[in-house]
Amino acid sequence: MMNALLAARFQAVRRDSEDLIAPLSAEDAGAQSMPDASPAKWHLAHTTWFFETVVLETLDPAYQSPFNGFRVLFNSYYQGVGPQFARPQRGLITRPSLAEVMHYRAAIDAQILQTLSHALHASVLGLIELGLHHEQQHQELLLMDLKHLFACNPLGPVYRDLPPITDIETPLHWLAYAGGVVDVGTSAPTFAFDNERPQHQHYLAPFSIANRLVTNREFLAFVSDGGYHNPAHWLADGWSTVQREQWTYPAYWRDARGQEAFTLGGWCPLPPNAPVCQTPMRAGRAPVCRPNLNGNTPHGSPPRRWITPRWPRAIRARRIPPLRGSSSCLTKSGSGPAVLTRPTPAFGPCPAWSPNTTASSWQTSWCCAAGAARRRQATRG
Ligand SMILES: [Fe+2]
Repeated sequence: MMNALLAARFQAVRRDSEDLIAPLSAEDAGAQSMPDASPAKWHLAHTTWFFETVVLETLDPAYQSPFNGFRVLFNSYYQGVGPQFARPQRGLITRPSLAEVMHYRAAIDAQILQTLSHALHASVLGLIELGLHHEQQHQELLLMDLKHLFACNPLGPVYRDLPPITDIETPLHWLAYAGGVVDVGTSAPTFAFDNERPQHQHYLAPFSIANRLVTNREFLAFVSDGGYHNPAHWLADGWSTVQREQWTYPAYWRDARGQEAFTLGGWCPLPPNAPVCQTPMRAGRAPVCRPNLNGNTPHGSPPRRWITPRWPRAIRARRIPPLRGSSSCLTKSGSGPAVLTRPTPAFGPCPAWSPNTTASSWQTSWCCAAGAARRRQATRG
């Protein structure tokens, strides 16, 4: 990418982060609702830390930060950089203030833009672009953490008004995919994360996948039928967590009736035909996919191993070993059934600020688990 283009993109991405916190007070931005979450202020500082530590220090090994202590305070888990401040205690970082963090951002932005005004080695340009993708990931995390924070507040704060959702029922049916040897990863010269390279081949067993995701209505049927009280539907660690945490319905639902859920727009009616969100990772996973064990189009009864007779197929397929491979196939192979088997949203486009749009994560893009909040076991920065 040319320097001028990269500079423009740098400014746009950095501005996006600041737009995201515009509706927040300094108190909102500094609070941490649980050990896995980070304050919005920390996300703003950490993404800046990345540019300072990874880019500016690479360019000048003698670089000395004028921001004393930030190198440790806003390091997430980059062991190679040095010590880190404990994540569960990020809410204790009342200093620097939000205003000082914004000053930090402005100062590092100016240095990066100054850097981009000169000829740079491709590797440095690559680091800056990596920093932008890193920041966009943190933009999603920021919203995810904010949703949990606001959900903890009995006042049910509204972050932003959300546009209405068109709730349209889409009939469920299965689409078969023949499997075979597929390409996984990318060889494109454009940006990709390191875990997307090198492209390699992978054998994918035949499988079928639903034409859409599991809906709130279908998951409510699971909840209403005692799905959270029956270990048969859970893997062992999931069931242990259900019992320990006393879960009886998905996170952010008002109650087990599944009529209302907390969103970044506050408490909202739950659209019955929208994909269910914030379901546990160890049961009832929304990706509707099952193995086709005999290699044929699965018109017959599915194997009992995967399916409990009382449940709609969309929910029954709770164990999905080929998911990673099949999702790669569907998104990478780009021909024949792969086009047909892409999941069809059962409702209109997600709001732009929804935290459930993590395109960079195969897990979150399939089951809307990005907002699983207190029930998640996420690995994150
Ligand atoms: Fe990070």
